[in-house]
Amino acid sequence: MRIGCPKEIKNHEYRVGLTPESAAELVAHGHDVVVEHGAGLGIGAEDADYTAVGATLAAVEDVFATADIIVKVKEPQAVERARLRKGQTLYTYLHLAPDAPQTVDLMASGAICIAYETVTSPFGGLPLLKPMSQVAGRMAAQAGAHTLEKAQGGRGVLLGGVPGVAPAKVIVIGGGVVGRNATAMAVGMGADVTILDRSNEALESIDTQFGGTVKTLYSSKSALATAIATADLVIGAVLIPGAAAPKLVTREMLKTMQQGAVLVDVAIDQGGCFETSKATTHADPIYVEEGIVHYCVANMPGAVARTSTYALNNATLPHLLKLADMGVKEALLSDPHLLEGLNVAHGKVTCEPVAQFQGLDYLPAHEAALAL
Ligand SMILES: NC(=O)c1ccc[n+]([C@@H]2O[C@H](COP(=O)([O-])OP(=O)(O)OC[C@H]3O[C@@H](n4cnc5c(N)ncnc54)[C@H](O)[C@@H]3O)[C@@H](O)[C@H]2O)c1
Repeated sequence: MRIGCPKEIKNHEYRVGLTPESAAELVAHGHDVVVEHGAGLGIGAEDADYTAVGATLAAVEDVFATADIIVKVKEPQAVERARLRKGQTLYTYLHLAPDAPQTVDLMASGAICIAYETVTSPFGGLPLLKPMSQVAGRMAAQAGAHTLEKAQGGRGVLLGGVPGVAPAKVIVIGGGVVGRNATAMAVGMGADVTILDRSNEALESIDTQFGGTVKTLYSSKSALATAIATADLVIGAVLIPGAAAPKLVTREMLKTMQQGAVLVDVAIDQGGCFETSKATTHADPIYVEEGIVHYCVANMPGAVARTSTYALNNATLPHLLKLADMGVKEALLSDPHLLEGLNVAHGKVTCEPVAQFQGLDYLPAHEAALAL
């Protein structure tokens, strides 16, 4: 098979679909790999790193025109969608539900579109989404610590304190992948961390994971209100799958907080869990509302493109090898978890929640795969 990897063109996106190491694995399996000139520069991978492992370089038009499978990171932009061909496979993040124009274009393209974010695992969870939640969680503690500095508008509090001065109080709302990774970093920096969750199972396993180094609280309205009133840093990391994030911290509640306290809303990509959150970018990540500094960057992993790309490739490469080695149809039919990633085929939506959300006809993924 011929695997094509174009350069990402979304604003401030530096990740790349294939690392040179992943390209080498595909070549070792007997596949042709074609990479757009300069595709890896954002992660410090030179064109020569790809050619050294047997990949070839080409202009973007040729990558799209000749590849059987296109591997990317972000959803295809309009100009990329126009380049997709009937029967070609696209393997990338899509996030189709709220994106009608992209859905229409992908249906019109006739391409077979597999979305990272809906591939499942026999062990539960969303394994191709998880690495980015790990990155964002770890960054949340780092971003929060930086934003707490006085020059950034924060309270001027050091996360770990020093001997004789108490550490910062960090409240993490949501003890899933993001929340636990944020907690691990904050605890490592010496902060005083409390995690709130609505799942008793999650609270129990956090207690086991972190022992006595963190406090856990059931996430009731009053527990949250009491906790944030004395917090230096609040990290929002809740997720209700398939739904917009609940607004757990209202504007009124901000008035009870300490001036210069920091909110990091990692859940901003699902609308955010603070009423006053609005998406920001790495170029201009923070703003102040009611004296509280907000950090609401929607694509946090993009800032650490190299780490994020390698973490993403660790998760995406095994499925890509399967698609290339077995052929797309056989690979999808042999693996129900990969099949759940199929979002568009034969000009129809094959992911039920996306079809429902957009009021479109739904073609079951299994039927679609059988007809490939
Ligand atoms: N901004 C970014 O760059 C970025 C990157 C990765 C992930 N995210 C987002 O971070 C969020 C969290 O992702 P995750 O992978 O950790 O999800 P997850 O499913 O692993 O964890 C979410 C947790 O939230 C808990 N929860 C739900 N409602 C709650 C409530 N009312 N109070 C307290 N806890 C509650 C759930 O029980 C669960 O433990 C998602 O919105 C995800 O899209 C953002």
